[in-house]
Amino acid sequence: MKHFLDLGDWPSDSIQHLIHNAARLKAEWKNGGNPPLLRGQTLAMVFQKPSLRTRVSFEIAMQHLGGNAIMLGPDEIGLGKRESIADVTRVLAGYTQAIMARVFDHDHVTEMARWSRVPVINGLSDSHHPCQAIADLLTIYEHFGQLRGLRIVFVGDGNNVAASLGQAAAHTGAHFTLAAPAGYTMSEEILEQIATLAEPQGGTVEVYHDPLEAVRNADVIYTDTWVSMGQEADTARRIQDLTPYQVNATLLASAPAHAMIMHCLPAHRGQEITDELADGERSIIFQQAENRLHAQKAILVQLMVD
Ligand code: CP
Ligand code: NVA
Repeated sequence: MKHFLDLGDWPSDSIQHLIHNAARLKAEWKNGGNPPLLRGQTLAMVFQKPSLRTRVSFEIAMQHLGGNAIMLGPDEIGLGKRESIADVTRVLAGYTQAIMARVFDHDHVTEMARWSRVPVINGLSDSHHPCQAIADLLTIYEHFGQLRGLRIVFVGDGNNVAASLGQAAAHTGAHFTLAAPAGYTMSEEILEQIATLAEPQGGTVEVYHDPLEAVRNADVIYTDTWVSMGQEADTARRIQDLTPYQVNATLLASAPAHAMIMHCLPAHRGQEITDELADGERSIIFQQAENRLHAQKAILVQLMVD
């Protein structure tokens, strides 16, 4: 059984295939529609946290492929509270052909995968956001026409989105740089894993504490919230520590003239990114958000059809 929990579990050729298939499915959709590859199939969507993009893009992806999706919000099933994860998973797997779950603890999606006889997709955990990273790399590929050798620089908190982006970059031969203060970089374990994935593809991974230095050769500058869902109690300290890492005009002036701006959204404008950059001509954040739809289709097809 194939699950989609952590890009570190997947071989590089499969990740490259996913990105190319997402591009192909996007072109197919724009040229009149996708064939109903998932006709009669249902995706269960379990959310312990709020969502706009992940929820809507998965639901519409299933519709476009001839299937349907059922939304189960945080108050509906009480994953691990009203009922154990093992029991919820086995019940859902009896009704549906795949389960997508957004959770706090990454162990909760691995626990679901352990009990599920249908594919489990991680729709964001505290450690990883693999579906986001496929859309991100699709967007970068569309803009630059290649991934190999590009320099992707994530500025801010070395969080779930950064970890998956670094893994996806490594799988595709792009160079990944994290610019974060001490205490906000990724674990040594994930950095070593990214380096191991990158090496055969010709990519590299680097960590900087100086954001201006980090973006000096950037093709892409990427940021995300400083306060991820579940970290709200630590908001004041995180804002104080991460303020020097704001993606703003000063940072952009340090980067090459062609560098593009990305953000997974939701954006906290005035914190990790200024309005000027989020809405400026170098921003590709709404193309990136749209590409969640096309990436979800490729992920669903890979798990449910291929
Ligand atoms: N980027 C992303 O996952 O957005 P949502 O939290 O709205 O799903
Ligand atoms: N890092 C953010 C991403 C939201 C899509 C969070 O976990 O809240």
